[in-house]
Amino acid sequence: MPVLRSAFIALSRNRSLRRFCEQSKVGTRLSSRFVAGTEIDDALRVAESVNRQGISVTLDSLGESVTTEGEAHRAAEIYHQLLDTINARKLNANISVKLTQMGLELSPKLAEKIATSLAQHAKAGGNFVRIDMEDSKLTQVTLDIVRRLNARPETRGVIGVVIQAYLYRSQADVEQLLADGIRIRLCKGAYKEPAEVAFPRKSQVDENFVLLSKLMLDSDVYHGIATHDEAMVDAVKAYAKQHKIAPDRFEFQMLYGVRRDLQRKLVKDGYNVRVYVPFGQEWYPYFMRRLAERPANVLFLMKNFFRA
Ligand code: FDA
Repeated sequence: MPVLRSAFIALSRNRSLRRFCEQSKVGTRLSSRFVAGTEIDDALRVAESVNRQGISVTLDSLGESVTTEGEAHRAAEIYHQLLDTINARKLNANISVKLTQMGLELSPKLAEKIATSLAQHAKAGGNFVRIDMEDSKLTQVTLDIVRRLNARPETRGVIGVVIQAYLYRSQADVEQLLADGIRIRLCKGAYKEPAEVAFPRKSQVDENFVLLSKLMLDSDVYHGIATHDEAMVDAVKAYAKQHKIAPDRFEFQMLYGVRRDLQRKLVKDGYNVRVYVPFGQEWYPYFMRRLAERPANVLFLMKNFFRA
């Protein structure tokens, strides 16, 4: 792993820097390229403007690894409000949820209960809940919860999950999820994982990403291909064309503020695109992971900061 990537991942876990940044005006301004703002209204405003460009949205209320049951319930409450507001404002948006924000590390039962109530709420309003994937220690418990929810009639079909192409186990997980008819978002993976569980080289991750995306495209389920990597996007487009898979059978997904040019081009070419829009006070770890993916973004942000 390149040194800068490791350095940013280490910084993403630094508590004092996090406190300082989240409370400072400069920090909030710098993060605005990748984070919609700190309040629900900021996220809704961004969702509306993204929708106007013909792009759908998934909303992420930032936060992870809560330490009390009360925090988990408060985090869930924000998502319930989002589900109501998405319907009221007729937005083309769903929600992305991290189970550690719903108390997974305190009690898997608590996280499952909260995820169930969100999925029931989504089903009542014709919406959808995507469960984000976190580090590899949580992969199995996350998949177990998603599969149980999908097996229950009251939450079937409205819950999907994320698979990370960097994990060796992902092919088996994709096959299992496809057998269950569960919607998958495929991404490369954003956490620091040891070589015992994850491909160490980018070329291996890319190869696995293409392999898994083909398995997904061959299924009848509507999936999300989440990447900003044009080589991945081109491979998916070529496979879909070759196998006569219509562009409306899947969607590309990208993060808010990243490769807007590519997002617009895909829409123009007739592909479905969804943008992941994060918001909230706890933007720091998310923001640092984006810098870790592309340290050149630091220069880019600084230039824009001083220009503004
Ligand atoms: P990669 O990092 O290999 O970069 C390829 C190229 O894409 C770069 O050379 C650059 O051109 C461009 N690019 C990538 N990142 C950029 C950036 N930040 N700024 C500008 N250009 C950039 N991860 C996870 O572990 N669990 C999850 O639940 C999710 N969820 C998720 C949802 C969505 C919608 C997306 C797009 C991504 C995620 N991720 C995630 C993050 C994912 O695992 C991965 O870390 C990032 O998407 C970066 O990987 P890429 O596929 O974009 O390519």
